Amino acid sequence: MARKLVVYYSWKNSAASYMAQRIADAIGADIEGIVPELAYNGNYDLAMERAKREVGCNFEPKIKPMQSNLEDYDEIIIGGPCWWQKMSSPVRTFLVKNRRRLAGKTVSCFITNYGRKPWAIEDMESLLPESCTVIPGMEIRFEDEDASCQETPDEQVTAWIETL
Ligand SMILES: Cc1cc2nc3c(=O)[nH]c(=O)nc-3n(C[C@H](O)[C@H](O)[C@H](O)COP(=O)(O)O)c2cc1C
Repeated sequence: MARKLVVYYSWKNSAASYMAQRIADAIGADIEGIVPELAYNGNYDLAMERAKREVGCNFEPKIKPMQSNLEDYDEIIIGGPCWWQKMSSPVRTFLVKNRRRLAGKTVSCFITNYGRKPWAIEDMESLLPESCTVIPGMEIRFEDEDASCQETPDEQVTAWIETL
């Protein structure tokens, strides 16, 4: 049986962490969060401002070392929130830093957002090595940061999880 790992970043431990846990529970995967060395301010406006600057120039903030060894896994599911219509900066750092370790693996990406025409999945997939087998990703839309207000029909989410 394939060994699977869900890797995610979540700013507020809301939509993205909820979705990561749901996926891991459903497919029996291990799970680990990406932790930035310098946490994003809990204040929405300040976090937005820093995120805008970082996303605008594809900045890669330092992240803490991961506990999981990617080499132990066949399939990696990577996700996080959409920021300024792209992936969040800590997810970018993870993908860039681990590009070589992801080579040859099966990968799928997910994004949580509130539905402002994001192209974050494409942004993430563009950083995967060509040797990856990519399972089409999923954008899951929430009304706001509250993980209980999912707008994407649940059957679509379940159907996507079944592809993992
Ligand atoms: C800095 C920042 C930028 C965001 N930019 C977008 C965006 O461009 N499009 C969108 O649909 N949602 C955007 N959002 C909303 C988040 O993607 C959404 O609230 C996310 O699912 C929250 O998950 P988390 O708290 O688990 O990180 C943004 C949120 C933040 C904090």
